[in-house]
Amino acid sequence: MPEFAVWYSPLKSAHIGLVIVSGGLFALRGALVLAGQSWAMARPWRMLSYGIDTLLLAAGVTLWVSLSLNPVASPWLGAKLLLLVLYVVLGSLALKRARAPAARRASYAGALMVYMFMASVALSHHPLGFMQPWWTHGD
Ligand code: HEM
Repeated sequence: MPEFAVWYSPLKSAHIGLVIVSGGLFALRGALVLAGQSWAMARPWRMLSYGIDTLLLAAGVTLWVSLSLNPVASPWLGAKLLLLVLYVVLGSLALKRARAPAARRASYAGALMVYMFMASVALSHHPLGFMQPWWTHGD
């Protein structure tokens, strides 16, 4: 087995595992904050989230560099990076920056939808993600 294949597959599995843990933790903390449980924003929980997100992004960037991908030539990766920025903004609005409860709820729902869409973009290797068959009629 080539050396690349020995570590690429475990790293990709770690990336996917961290995607699930990070998304699950955001969903849980967001739901608790919306339910008025402000302890979900306490320092240990914030530190846990930062740690997991840092590992997730580091694994993603390592996969990216190892495949020598160009986000313009691989539009699924470019779309994923743009969606990541949108997810971070919506997540920050949901957990702390939005003042009105309705804005927090909308940001929370939007962040979760963007996150799931990002996963579908990654799995399909297409910028339209799960919508690709509808928009391209399966071409
Ligand atoms: C800096 C951020 C990120 C970068 C640079 C990145 C990059 C990558 C790369 C290069 C791959 C390997 C694709 C392959 O082997 O064909 C990958 C896989 C994957 N990524 Fe990310 N990723 C990032 C963040 C995320 C996030 C936030 C999510 C989820 C919402 C995500 C979901 C996935 C999934 C599900 C796969 C597996 C796709 C497959 O099975 O082929 N990634 N990522």
